[in-house]
Amino acid sequence: MTAQQTELQYLPPDLKRELLPKHVAVIMDGNGRWAKHQGLPRIMGHKAGVDALKDLLRCCKDWGIEALTAYAFSTENWGRPHEEVDFLMTLFQRVLRQELREMVEENVQIRFVGNLSSLPRSLQAEISRAMEETKDNCGIKFTIATNYGGRQEIIQACRAIAQKVQQGLLQPDEIDEATFERHLYTIGICDPDLLIRTSGEMRVSNFLLWQIAYSEIYITDTLWPDFDRHEFHRALCAYQQRERRFGKV
Ligand code: FPP
Repeated sequence: MTAQQTELQYLPPDLKRELLPKHVAVIMDGNGRWAKHQGLPRIMGHKAGVDALKDLLRCCKDWGIEALTAYAFSTENWGRPHEEVDFLMTLFQRVLRQELREMVEENVQIRFVGNLSSLPRSLQAEISRAMEETKDNCGIKFTIATNYGGRQEIIQACRAIAQKVQQGLLQPDEIDEATFERHLYTIGICDPDLLIRTSGEMRVSNFLLWQIAYSEIYITDTLWPDFDRHEFHRALCAYQQRERRFGKV
């Protein structure tokens, strides 16, 4: 355990347990800039980003947060240079293989969401194994959005619903929010209470478009690899100051 993990191993006393978000979602932005600032190739930023994500997962677990969802690769990220895409795919696979045992032991339930069928076969196999081996775990729900796009998710839900209507399994006037949610990748996971984006960009970038309808958004200038427990603590303090009205007065 690193020094800063030990220092903030337990929920800081200025945070109210009953006001913690149940589900935190993160847009892990700024890996490339972080690497550039260190005089390193961009891919080293992604490598450092994995360590930040592992620390955050452990922190959520230590502090009693029920679900963490991370945006690892968007449907638009295929437009990056070949070498970077290849590096990321290999990195996901390697990290999954290396970390799976520990995640099983720590009772983490891993889920990947997105259009997984276009990922490299070997990565798909690793993903299936990780989801299968952790499906009965009842600890933190850790969701990784990979080849994920919010619009694409909504379209695939519409198609699935339309097919059921065509087959006479569903009537159009039976389609409500609950029906729709059952056709999203995130079925069974509550909507994020808090969405964090690093590196100062004020965008949602096609992430969980349906699910973040009422999420509180926290944006920090910190680059993702530098996002540590202290930063997370700051984000949670800001979150606990918010008054969540869900459209009411
Ligand atoms: C955005 O930073 C980051 C990504 C597109 C990749 C994020 C992936 C990880 C942190 C690895 C996660 C690993 C697993 C196993 C889930 P950027 O490259 O857009 O940074 P920039 O805006 O500074 O260029």
